[in-house]
Order: sequence, then structure tokens, then C-alpha cells
Amino acid sequence: MAEKTLQTLFHDTLRDIYYAERKILKSLPKMARAAQSPDLKAAFEKHREQTEGQIERLQKVFEIIDKPARGKTCDAIEGILAEGDEIAEEYKDTPALDAGLLAAAQAVEHYEITRYGTLKRWAEVLGLKDAVKLLDETLKEESQTDEDLTAIADAAVNAEALHPAA
Ligand SMILES: [Fe+2]
Ligand SMILES: [Fe+2]
Repeated sequence: MAEKTLQTLFHDTLRDIYYAERKILKSLPKMARAAQSPDLKAAFEKHREQTEGQIERLQKVFEIIDKPARGKTCDAIEGILAEGDEIAEEYKDTPALDAGLLAAAQAVEHYEITRYGTLKRWAEVLGLKDAVKLLDETLKEESQTDEDLTAIADAAVNAEALHPAA
């Protein structure tokens, strides 16, 4: 059996997040359609565009390590996105819908932040300087998205969820 090293883990984890990002790209337009708040819709749309760029960065990282860009099923993101779908369905036409969608989106961002944080660290250890830069750019976008969502929650979405629909 081939020896598994940090290189192996890096490659496997890259495949995991590549799979996840492509799922997220498909899910964000659905989230934007489901959201009621214009600010939340706009945040989902903006992040959909960013996600396209993030997928391109991952393809560059695959190139750096000389591997084909190929995903590997990520059960974690499947579960997180399935929970988001469940919220969208169960809270449809209720005042708490946006708060639930926003929380589901933050769960996605936090999953991405943990993955990119680890990949960036491993790229540093592996001496993959260009990969570190690419992974860091995406990590910053994910963290900023998480903060933007918190701001939207604080500005209106959580308060609106307190009250019954007019
Ligand atoms: Fe992402
Ligand atoms: Fe994200």
C-alpha cells in the first residue's frame, strides 16, 4: 500500500473542498430565490459570483500539485446543504425564514473556513507558496462573507424573525 503523507492529505482535502464549492455554487441561487430580505438575496448573489472565482483558484492549486481537478464526495457539505433545504421548506412563508437561511449559510461558511484554514497551513508546511496565496485569498472571502451575514442578521433579519407576519 502506498504510504500516505501530508501530500496525500492535502490532495484529498483539496478534492473535498472542490466538491463542496461546486455544490455550494449550485445551492446559492436557490438560497437567493428563497430569501425574502433584499440584503440577504444580494449577499447570496454576490457570494455566488465569488464562489466561481474560488473554484478557479482551486483549479490552479490542483495545477500547482500537478493533479487533475477532481472532487471527492464531501458528506459534510451534503448534510449542511440538506439542512438548509429543510429550513427553506419548513419555514417557507414565515417571519423566521430569513434568519434560518442566514444561519444555514453561516454553517456553510464555517465549514469552508475550517477547510481553507487547514489547507493553507498544510500548503505552508509543504512549501507551496503560490498555493498558500490562493488559499488565503479564498479564506479571506469566506471570513468576510461570514461577517457580512452577521451584519445582515443584526441589522434586521433576527429582529424580523421575532414577530408574527403582518
Ligand atoms: Fe467558497
Ligand atoms: Fe463561502
